[in-house]
Amino acid sequence: MEFRHLGNSGLVISEIAYGNWITHGSQIEEEGAAACVRAALDEGITTFDTADAYAQGRAEEVLGRALKGERRDGLEILSKVFWPTGPGKNDRGLSRKHIVRSCEDSLRRLGTDYLDLYQAHRFDYATPLEETLRAFDDLVRQGKVCYIGVSEWRAEEIERALTLADEMGLDRIVSNQPQYSMLHRVIEPEVVPASRRGGLGQIVFSPIAQGVLTGKYKPGQEAPAGSRATDETGGRFISRVLKDDVLERVQRLVPLAEEAGLTMAQLAVAWVLQNDNVSAAIIGASRPEQVGDNAAAAGVRLDESLMARIDEALGDAVQRDPALTVSPPQRP
Ligand SMILES: NC(=O)c1ccc[n+]([C@@H]2O[C@H](COP(=O)([O-])OP(=O)(O)OC[C@H]3O[C@@H](n4cnc5c(N)ncnc54)[C@H](OP(=O)(O)O)[C@@H]3O)[C@@H](O)[C@H]2O)c1
Repeated sequence: MEFRHLGNSGLVISEIAYGNWITHGSQIEEEGAAACVRAALDEGITTFDTADAYAQGRAEEVLGRALKGERRDGLEILSKVFWPTGPGKNDRGLSRKHIVRSCEDSLRRLGTDYLDLYQAHRFDYATPLEETLRAFDDLVRQGKVCYIGVSEWRAEEIERALTLADEMGLDRIVSNQPQYSMLHRVIEPEVVPASRRGGLGQIVFSPIAQGVLTGKYKPGQEAPAGSRATDETGGRFISRVLKDDVLERVQRLVPLAEEAGLTMAQLAVAWVLQNDNVSAAIIGASRPEQVGDNAAAAGVRLDESLMARIDEALGDAVQRDPALTVSPPQRP
């Protein structure tokens, strides 16, 4: 495994992190989840990402049990707050009340007394940013959280948070967690430059586009049995990318991966890690073998001509519009 600093912060994380959205507490059974976490640890992965809302809290519980017995200070555990965790009007968003309550619940479910990174899962237009930043800062002072970050915030939202934190003397955000892959590059024009200026690193999610960049979904064919596309919850999310024109373009990567001596998944994970503003790629897995496959992308360098041929192969299947970085206009 290779390690990188989380933005300009002093925290070092594994450049491949393991995340449990869709899988733990939902798509896969506890035993399979534990096997994937074991495989991640065996690959040298030390960074684990989850969220309060994944599988209504079950994902944090499963991860907490799977990591039990590991040396806590050798791990970096990341969680998030924003999406609904219950039916109540205050069980969502980035109000002081919800941030404080949800952090306590995450710590209990994960079986730990601190989070390495606590992330605002989206921007909350219904809460003053001052209130959110102050609540996060309090958690840092209390030792419940080491660092704070955000997820899918727009460039101007990141910049406002940094300016406000400096004016108020509060802890600064150190990271952003956006979707980023060969197919989804919307952070490149605005979010990445703003993050570089502000000292934030990207912890990117869905680096293999939820499985699409493995090439296992073929144009005009049924999705393979047991894949995310066939899962009730996962299927809803992946369907946005499962378009025949995209799948046809992805198949053009197969000879490029072969030539580079990489699997398709390794090529996709290695591709996001070529961006030096990326602190880590968070991989998901439904089976331990996938963790072993994808983690082998650590430290891989792709040369310029290969990068150019990837662009040529994917053509207009690549999303580049920065306007695609959005948070819900109203609290969900
Ligand atoms: N901040 C946010 O809003 C946000 C949003 C989404 C995700 N995330 C984070 O990012 C993490 C990763 O997201 P993701 O799961 O979408 O990432 P991903 O790595 O792009 O996709 C993972 C899925 O692809 C399939 N797969 C993985 N490796 C494979 C291989 N070698 N061969 C064939 N299939 C393979 C598996 O699904 P099947 O086997 O079921 O097909 C696996 O669950 C999440 O767990 C979460 O921590 C954050």
